[in-house]
Amino acid sequence: MANFPERVFSGVQPTGNLHLGNYLGAIVKFVELQRSHECLYCVVDLHAITVPQKPAELKASIRELTAAYIACGVDPAAHVIFNQSQVSGHAELAWVFNCVARIGWLNRMTQFKEKAGKDRENASVGLYAYPCLMAADILLYKATHVPVGEDQKQHIELARDVAQKFNLDFSESIAANGFGDQFFPLPEPLIQGPATRVMSLRDGSKKMSKSDPSDYSRINLSDEPDAIAQKVRKAKTDPEPLPSEVEGLAGRPEADNLVGIFAALSGRAKAQVLQEFGGAQFSAFKTALADLAVDRLAPIGVEMRRLSADPAYIDGVLVDGAARARKIADETMKAVKDVLGFVR
Ligand code: AMP
Ligand code: TRP
Repeated sequence: MANFPERVFSGVQPTGNLHLGNYLGAIVKFVELQRSHECLYCVVDLHAITVPQKPAELKASIRELTAAYIACGVDPAAHVIFNQSQVSGHAELAWVFNCVARIGWLNRMTQFKEKAGKDRENASVGLYAYPCLMAADILLYKATHVPVGEDQKQHIELARDVAQKFNLDFSESIAANGFGDQFFPLPEPLIQGPATRVMSLRDGSKKMSKSDPSDYSRINLSDEPDAIAQKVRKAKTDPEPLPSEVEGLAGRPEADNLVGIFAALSGRAKAQVLQEFGGAQFSAFKTALADLAVDRLAPIGVEMRRLSADPAYIDGVLVDGAARARKIADETMKAVKDVLGFVR
């Protein structure tokens, strides 16, 4: 088995309304991993166009997400922040993977079924093939670790399957070209902590999402302090006081969600939060949660607005990041072409 150096890759779609779920499920981990790993964080604009986008809004969202990465603490000097469409290897390798992955694999993807809904015949081919593009994102950099929220687990498993099938299908050529016995690593998802699936503040059975029509369902990273506090105060709860043990959260999705958010924002486990708040009414707990959320999130909003006022700086970060990403990507694509038998 080949040994690959550890490298982190992840991406977020620039589709507006970046929220607390994106932050706790993904971006907080992006920031932590910088201390121990070489990291690439991508603004996945090619993924965004799998559903219709308005060009002017897409451009604004790409810059807003870049600002959010930096405002949350990703360091564009020490690590790589870039947008996917500036590195052509993503689309090229995705095509190769379209020819490696099997239709049956894609047919099992639950996110496609959710996003395409009833009108599946009318969904874009891109939305269907999206997991192959995501596999390309990761494997173009031979990334070994991928921090994501729970909803992306199935897509990372598909990326592992693609890597494994490529390694197997082309094993002779991989060896003959001097790449040993494994061309791609099998990337591991990093899905840990108390908030891998943050739920809507209005309905504990629905994921917090960018596209929920109710703005009260989510806390946006760009929200002002008053809005953050008000959304916490208005969050749906049940009439019982908080339990003292984690088991007491079973069957109480709204309570479970708010405790998970508190735990993640304060860097504690749910059990520790319940040690403090067990027996308390939601009114008291929400006051503490609103203060904590404002404390943690409001400075991010301020920094996002400051950075967004300077689009030339943001665009510079993306151009520089893309140049650094391309260095790795071009190497991989040359090797992939050799393995496939293309003339270059
Ligand atoms: P997306 O906005 O779909 O590009 O998601 C970007 C990242 O945020 C991915 O790693 C998702 O898994 C994560 N994410 C999105 N929504 C949530 C949520 N409600 N809870 C936890 N993580 C989430
Ligand atoms: N599909 C992911 C999402 O919607 C975003 C994404 C695209 C991604 N490419 C990736 C995440 C590669 C991790 C690694 O959230």
